Amino acid sequence: MNIGNVTLSNGVKMPLEGFGVFQVPDPAVCRQAVLDAIETGYRLIDTAAIYMNEAAVGEAIKEAIAKGVVKREELFITTKLWCNAASYDGAKKAFADSMNNLGLDYLDLYLIHQPFGDVYGAWRAMEELYQAGKIRAIGVSNFYIGRFTEFAEIVDLKPMVNQIELHPFYSQYDAIENMKQYGTVPQAWGPLAEGKHGIFTHPVLSAVGAKYGKTAAQIALKWNIQRGVSVMPKSIHKDRMEQNIALWDFTLTDDDMKSIDALDLGHSEIIDHNDPNVVRYILGATKE
Ligand SMILES: NC(=O)c1ccc[n+]([C@@H]2O[C@H](COP(=O)([O-])OP(=O)(O)OC[C@H]3O[C@@H](n4cnc5c(N)ncnc54)[C@H](OP(=O)(O)O)[C@@H]3O)[C@@H](O)[C@H]2O)c1
Repeated sequence: MNIGNVTLSNGVKMPLEGFGVFQVPDPAVCRQAVLDAIETGYRLIDTAAIYMNEAAVGEAIKEAIAKGVVKREELFITTKLWCNAASYDGAKKAFADSMNNLGLDYLDLYLIHQPFGDVYGAWRAMEELYQAGKIRAIGVSNFYIGRFTEFAEIVDLKPMVNQIELHPFYSQYDAIENMKQYGTVPQAWGPLAEGKHGIFTHPVLSAVGAKYGKTAAQIALKWNIQRGVSVMPKSIHKDRMEQNIALWDFTLTDDDMKSIDALDLGHSEIIDHNDPNVVRYILGATKE
């Protein structure tokens, strides 16, 4: 399986497709899913401190390397620091904890998970870890357009990635265009809209898919990839992992892309970071 890459602003190559493990709290299920994903051909694995499964991800990586399936340098491992670590000292400690959980001696991508707290202090710590060679690339997540712009204008080292919600029902072309000004690569979370809006049987996606012998899910993923967005769909089912990665033998036409662009609702049906209740909920999740 030849997964395409995108080159980050510092020259590091990141796979355009990866595998996510949000909402896979059971360690045995997570370990098996990540092992299956690596065996299926995924090389980018996306976790986060708040997912509480970094240790299971680390075990799967160790096992895949021990089995000779992959070498460490062929993998691209992402984790994220949660709001309770959004400060200079907090980020240093959170990074050490994550590396300990993952059992790794360097990380490929470290993201600030949410745009809340002392993100500037956290960024300074991340810049130092990056300069020290502990992290190959640093970025942010859920930095919506205004917040992202403020952050990118102020920091010295610009975020190499911004991971935000991106799928056919929330295309955010404006946010993507704005990221380009700072050399930031867009990465999609929820590339399958977390199953919402009937995505797996959507008539437009299914009709496009029928032309290529592909499913609606595959069309949704390919649409993001073709507009330069990195995706990392999550599935604990091996047949779906195989389906979701079988994207590299066809190309959508401009008309296909336009018909999918037309599905944009202009808002999220999953989460709104401008909703005060959402902000309180996210910050509440830090008070253990
Ligand atoms: N930065 C952030 O704040 C943030 C937020 C959300 C997610 N993420 C990251 O992005 C990753 C992906 O997003 P997500 O997990 O929220 O949602 P998603 O990948 O959009 O959707 C996952 C859902 O789709 C199902 N599914 C996957 N492939 C399928 C297929 N081919 N046919 C039918 N159903 C399919 C999965 O079920 P099964 O598992 O049962 O197959 C699961 O219920 C996460 O795992 C995480 O790494 C980051």
